[in-house]
Amino acid sequence: MGKALEGVRILDFTHVQSGPTCTQLLAWFGADVIKVERAGEGDATRGQLRDIAGVDSLYFTMLNHNKRSMTLDTKRPDGKKVLEKLIQDCDVLVENFAPGALDRMGFSWERIQELNPRMIVASVKGFGPGPYEHCKVYENVAQCTGGAAATTGFDDGPPLVSGAQIGDSGSGLHLALGIVTALYQRNTTGRGQKVLTAMQDAVLNLCRVKLRDQQRLERNGVMEEYPQFADGQFGESVPRAGNASGGGQPGWILKCKGWETDPNAYIYFIAQAQVWPAVCKLIGREEWITDPDYATPRARLPRLMAIFAAVEEWSTTHTKFEAMDILNKFDIPCGPILSMKEIAEDPSLRATGTIVEVDHPERGPYLTVGNPIKLSDSPTEVRRSPLLGEHTDELLSGLGYSEDQIRRLREERVI
Ligand code: COA
Repeated sequence: MGKALEGVRILDFTHVQSGPTCTQLLAWFGADVIKVERAGEGDATRGQLRDIAGVDSLYFTMLNHNKRSMTLDTKRPDGKKVLEKLIQDCDVLVENFAPGALDRMGFSWERIQELNPRMIVASVKGFGPGPYEHCKVYENVAQCTGGAAATTGFDDGPPLVSGAQIGDSGSGLHLALGIVTALYQRNTTGRGQKVLTAMQDAVLNLCRVKLRDQQRLERNGVMEEYPQFADGQFGESVPRAGNASGGGQPGWILKCKGWETDPNAYIYFIAQAQVWPAVCKLIGREEWITDPDYATPRARLPRLMAIFAAVEEWSTTHTKFEAMDILNKFDIPCGPILSMKEIAEDPSLRATGTIVEVDHPERGPYLTVGNPIKLSDSPTEVRRSPLLGEHTDELLSGLGYSEDQIRRLREERVI
């Protein structure tokens, strides 16, 4: 079966996580992704957090599937010549170097346009234009500057970063959409364009509801669904809401049987208005169905923590999976807190290709997260990440270099 992005050639100048997530997605959709890396070391993540000495790390392998790797020193004159050919040959250049690195290398937007006016140049940077545009940025800096850390955690604790890599992988997702959109527009204009995703912007986009809440707070002084509502303690900015749902249906994380020893024996429970009578019956509080202090969502708002405590008395008598089964029978929305171990072993995630086992010539089999976006006419086959420079020769000969020329480039350490 054909692939959605078949025929699209991506010059992948990305490293670490944000950019590689983007180009991996494009590769999964069928683009030919050529990862250009510095000879000798390559993407720094190849060597970071290694679990097997001398072998590409999981950090690298899990972000660089379905790509080809070429080594090239793009600061040397002969390397620049190769890069020029690649720019002429590709549709998109994706990079997430520190600000200005591409210019310093001699490949400004104007120079790239001269070489290939159809080229789309897509970049991840930490910040957009403004006071911080020159800063280098990693994941947690983006979480802190994009509103996530200030709004995550509990009211009586410090700001918290999330385990979800919304700064890096979140930016990569945004960038991938920008690239595909630019390719679509190129069909009518014939021109390339610049695509920029600032990590701060990507995080803020994912924290959109918190900017919504900031304005609600400024207008009304309170937000009823926040845990702070019970005792009316609101400050000037959106507070950390613990495990509150953040939407119109109140929810919280509740202990389940075994919580004393299992750090993940918990369930997320949502007290959706429609199922209130079912909740009351289940936890043995049928009087709350008609009690005016509990009967309506409005009346329940200041009492949510007491209600969750009552449901928790029930949930601690069941495992999280038993609780899930029972609650689902009554259409009560909930979700067990799944550990990474449980997720890795989940047969349904394996069946859909969301968790995939991949074989690697040096490390053997390992697990990865497959393509989370499923296209019915463009299925994804996850192929292992390339070894450093594995495809250098085939790519150079595709660009017209002879065996002798390739040998010379290698002797001179350009590749
Ligand atoms: N040949 C020759 N030089 C190369 C090269 C190649 N194939 N690939 C990279 N380089 C050079 C770059 O040109 C740069 O040189 P310069 O400093 O002289 O301009 C140098 O390698 C280092 O690149 P840089 O991007 O600055 O790496 P770093 O390790 O110092 O910084 C980041 C890493 C992630 C902090 C930085 O790249 C960054 O802020 N990126 C944008 C935001 C981002 O994506 N952050 C999240 C990463 S997950």
